Amino acid sequence: MNLVLVGFMGSGKTVVGRNISRRIGYGFLDTDHFIEKELGCTIADIFSEKGEAHFRKLETSLAERLDQLDNYVIATGGGILTTPGNLDRLRRAGVVVFLKADPEGIYARLQRDTKRPKLRGGDLRETVERLLAERMPLYDQSDIVVETKGKAINRVVGEIIQRAAEFRAEARAVPGEPPPGAPPDSPGQETEP
Ligand code: S3P
Repeated sequence: MNLVLVGFMGSGKTVVGRNISRRIGYGFLDTDHFIEKELGCTIADIFSEKGEAHFRKLETSLAERLDQLDNYVIATGGGILTTPGNLDRLRRAGVVVFLKADPEGIYARLQRDTKRPKLRGGDLRETVERLLAERMPLYDQSDIVVETKGKAINRVVGEIIQRAAEFRAEARAVPGEPPPGAPPDSPGQETEP
């Protein structure tokens, strides 16, 4: 099983993802870095030479393959959910965690950015607000939402690990059967061989 981090640019997916992977001994994959390595050029080059639609195809083809990984933390690009079907593709790969940063924090972190093609041209605050408004309904469909505002990275990491474990335990629990960890002879519960 994998943990898949989604969220807006500048919300800390890569840093948090690396920290989680170190803490629980999982591998780490960043979809943007993977695409850059596979193609031998930067995301900005792909956008300027082939266009965003081409990048989304590459991203989606990688999303399709992520379920081949096991015990990985996967940090995704901020626009991955804008392609229809990608939420399901990510869900097939693992528990989808939305790293929800506050708009002011995002804006502050992206102010010095020079690499992200979606932020080029126009007013940064307007771009961030527009994209956030478009994407929030998509991010909000994630399995788990973790707010990051005012929290130290270790706390965010700990919260994600704990909530993902709870989510998996709930997903495994079959209605009418005792939850994982319940005593086998608890009243009213039948025990299976
Ligand atoms: C994008 C986010 C970027 C990268 C690309 C497009 C987006 O990833 O995939 O520049 O549309 O939000 P980060 O979220 O890691 O910056």
